[in-house]
Amino acid sequence: MNKLPECPIHPVSIKLLRQGHPWITADSFSNRFPRNSEFVVAMDERKRPMALLLHDPQHKNVKARLWTTKYPFDREAQHFTASVQARLDVAIEKRLQMKELKDRENYYLVFAEADQLPGLFIQKLNDRVLIQFYTSLWNKYKSIITTTIQEVFPEMKDDQFWFQMRGETRELQKLPVNAVDAGRRDEFHLSEFGNQYLIRLGSSYDHGLYTDMSAVRYELTKLITKDCRVLNLYSYTGAYSLWAMKLGASQVTSVDLSPKYIEWLQQNIGLNPDLDHTKHDALTMSVDEALAKLKSENKKFEVIICDPPSSSSDGDKRTSAIKAYKDLLRNMNMVLAENGKLVIFLNTHQTSGQKFERAILDYLKELNLNFKITQRLGLGQDCPTVKGFPEGSYLKGLVLEKV
Ligand SMILES: C[S@@+](CC[C@H](N)C(=O)[O-])C[C@H]1O[C@@H](n2cnc3c(N)ncnc32)[C@H](O)[C@@H]1O
Repeated sequence: MNKLPECPIHPVSIKLLRQGHPWITADSFSNRFPRNSEFVVAMDERKRPMALLLHDPQHKNVKARLWTTKYPFDREAQHFTASVQARLDVAIEKRLQMKELKDRENYYLVFAEADQLPGLFIQKLNDRVLIQFYTSLWNKYKSIITTTIQEVFPEMKDDQFWFQMRGETRELQKLPVNAVDAGRRDEFHLSEFGNQYLIRLGSSYDHGLYTDMSAVRYELTKLITKDCRVLNLYSYTGAYSLWAMKLGASQVTSVDLSPKYIEWLQQNIGLNPDLDHTKHDALTMSVDEALAKLKSENKKFEVIICDPPSSSSDGDKRTSAIKAYKDLLRNMNMVLAENGKLVIFLNTHQTSGQKFERAILDYLKELNLNFKITQRLGLGQDCPTVKGFPEGSYLKGLVLEKV
């Protein structure tokens, strides 16, 4: 192996690396890393090697990711493949030991930086495995990844693996591709907490069920009591709606702008004969329209779940979810029953949990609404987070109780 390039990094990156932040973002230092080198040794302010980084010159923002701070770096780089296998084994074994995952056929085997496998997410979806790359450097290691997984799950055939390139820009948002047949589309069912869901691979960017929200769904068990009325805003394919029905809600209303997702939601309900579909209503319209309609009909709900996309466009302008919350809080309050609860989410790494909470408390004050925060929700179980790495804790939720 050639000598590893030793590169100075930005003073802020030095500080962040020391605090446990595993990314080197684009700046005048990282933009000068040698383009054709897979590894880079980061040098501290006294020109001492401080970390071995995986280099990603093609990524727009994240130019390198921490691999190790363990010396000697040249040996760590030489043994990279063996270390990948070892880290995969540790991550998978951890999930197999988690009793919380026994009621789910969907869970993460690997959760990227939190499993020391930067930019690599791997989900088990019933008997399929979806491998998602947020950095193209993993492309070279596809077969190492699949064979390591097959050693743990020997029944897994090559055609049960799917790969997907994920990213923030539109060009990087690719559909999942089957490992054996690039043109394949796949539809199957999986069970989460006793409910069946339809999963689609190969035909849409997201496959129909957000696995990173499973642990949060379970958390709502205590909140959705028998016979309460639940409103699920931005319902997508209805995971929260089905879960509320399973928990015994007397009435569930789902709202989503997309006819495709509402139809998918109806199919999901149809897969579960134990759920009483007469207790479910679907409104295919915008959340603003739905809240106005429900208010005019004098409808009330004990629990309202609100999980908007991180930003949305009405054709003219983009609005971030956090900005939209002022109107949403006002309008949700109009249809909330006495002592009702709002479960609100923000799904972006660009706003910290603290900032989200502060914004919500400010809005409530401006609107003269009396709520208290009774619970904070976030990633958990198979989706761990890392201290000092806020980008990894992208999901935040609050439970607000009307007082
Ligand atoms: C992040 S997903 C919600 C995920 C869902 N809560 C779950 O856990 O499965 C956002 C959803 O909001 C819908 N959506 C976006 N803008 C909307 C709007 N203005 N009104 C209603 N639905 C909207 C999208 O079609 C999409 O299904």
